[in-house]
Amino acid sequence: MANARSGHWLSILAFALILLKTEGFNVEITYVVSAVAKGAVCLDGSPPAYHMDKGFGAGINNWLVHIEGGGWCNNASTCLARRDNRLGSSKQMVKQIAFSGILSNKQKFNPDFYNWNKIKVRYCDGASFTGDVEAVDPKTNLHYRGARVFLAVIEDLMAKGMKNAANAVLSGCSAGGLTAILHCDKFRALLPVSTKVKCFADAGYFINAKDVSGAAHIEGFYSEVVATHGSAKNLAPSCTSSLRPGLCFFPQYMAQQIRTPLFIINAAYDSWQV
Ligand SMILES: *[C@@H]1O[C@H](CO)[C@@H](O)[C@H](O)[C@H]1NC(C)=O
Repeated sequence: MANARSGHWLSILAFALILLKTEGFNVEITYVVSAVAKGAVCLDGSPPAYHMDKGFGAGINNWLVHIEGGGWCNNASTCLARRDNRLGSSKQMVKQIAFSGILSNKQKFNPDFYNWNKIKVRYCDGASFTGDVEAVDPKTNLHYRGARVFLAVIEDLMAKGMKNAANAVLSGCSAGGLTAILHCDKFRALLPVSTKVKCFADAGYFINAKDVSGAAHIEGFYSEVVATHGSAKNLAPSCTSSLRPGLCFFPQYMAQQIRTPLFIINAAYDSWQV
């Protein structure tokens, strides 16, 4: 009986994997080499990168910019730990990734966005694209430049046609979802006034809660992220004018001031939040 049941579940799992596999398609990486001269670089100094699938048909002037997630690094040791992996260096990123879900090009899987220009921006700064420290520590060669990376990537996409966008969505998951919230109005401001702009954060509304031991762990952690990356000047001024910069990394203290339409999805059973 147990065997029959696990066999049953295995076949369902196999079927689900086949579905996922057929849904996804590989998209080549693009390095934003011109960003390096602007100091807009990953933690290790390598150029930022994204994957882009061109829009077609009625979606040709619509743009979905999706930001990859991957946690944060809060000090030189944790940033050093990711400097030489894909979350800190475009040299370590795979050349192709599979687009699926909101990035799928199949109408039946992705009815709203399948024919849009779809971009997945690779995460390689460790601070949800908020950092900007001019000085590079010669010992570690760490670059805290996430905010410059965000700007350089958007400028590159503008040159590739996003300047003519009829609709544009900034989205992201996890730390990338937080990016979509923190940068929502900035993204809006970079696009023409005629473009309809919206932001969408999936599992990116991180709350300021005490952990199971009762410690304000995440609050201290975010304060360190903001201090290490020099993020304060790139957080919402409406928040930093009255609260400590570390708090302004939490959507709950700044999202009310966002003027661009913002959509939030956070699962009730998100294990990280729980
Ligand atoms: C860096 O942050 C990590 C994670 O919060 C912590 O365990 C470690 O002690 C910190 N290191 C330094 C040098 O502050």
